[in-house]
Amino acid sequence: MVAVVDPPALPLGRRVQQLLVWFLLLFSTLLLLVCAGPAMAEGVQLDASRPAGAQLFDQHCAGCHVNGGNIIRRGKTLQLKALERQGLGSAEAIAAIAANGIGQMSGYGAVLGGEGVDQVSSWVWQQALAGWPRGVRPAS
Ligand code: HEC
Repeated sequence: MVAVVDPPALPLGRRVQQLLVWFLLLFSTLLLLVCAGPAMAEGVQLDASRPAGAQLFDQHCAGCHVNGGNIIRRGKTLQLKALERQGLGSAEAIAAIAANGIGQMSGYGAVLGGEGVDQVSSWVWQQALAGWPRGVRPAS
């Protein structure tokens, strides 16, 4: 171990001062982390009270798939029946489409990121299984 530069000859007052400086540094770093964390999350408009998958869906999918429907291709909804008809009856199958797109739908892998793709597709699959209950939709 390399000894910390702290000669024993240093007067006590100086050592206390040094310690104080370190504490201040540590404290302000922690404070910064605590304050900046939520601020950064706000940047992508994530709100801790709703599941991340639901929020990602509202931001990236609901424009075309409002309430699990499909405003462009009427038959290609996110309802369980439609998904199963296309052989898309799993979170994994939905994840592949969310990431890479299908037919007229482009992929969102780049904007969602790997974790986002997983979160949004498992949320979509849960909704499909539950019949897209209105209770979980945002108030607006
Ligand atoms: C710009 C409109 C648009 C957006 C935004 C969009 N989709 Fe789609 N989606 C479509 C269209 C159109 C289809 C039908 C594609 C086809 O088969 O030609 C589709 C099909 C799908 C299907 C297959 C449904 C079926 O019954 O065959 C899934 C699953 C899906 N989208 C998931 C998502 C997810 C998850 C998101 C958000 C990450 C998303 N989509 C965003 C337009 C969109």
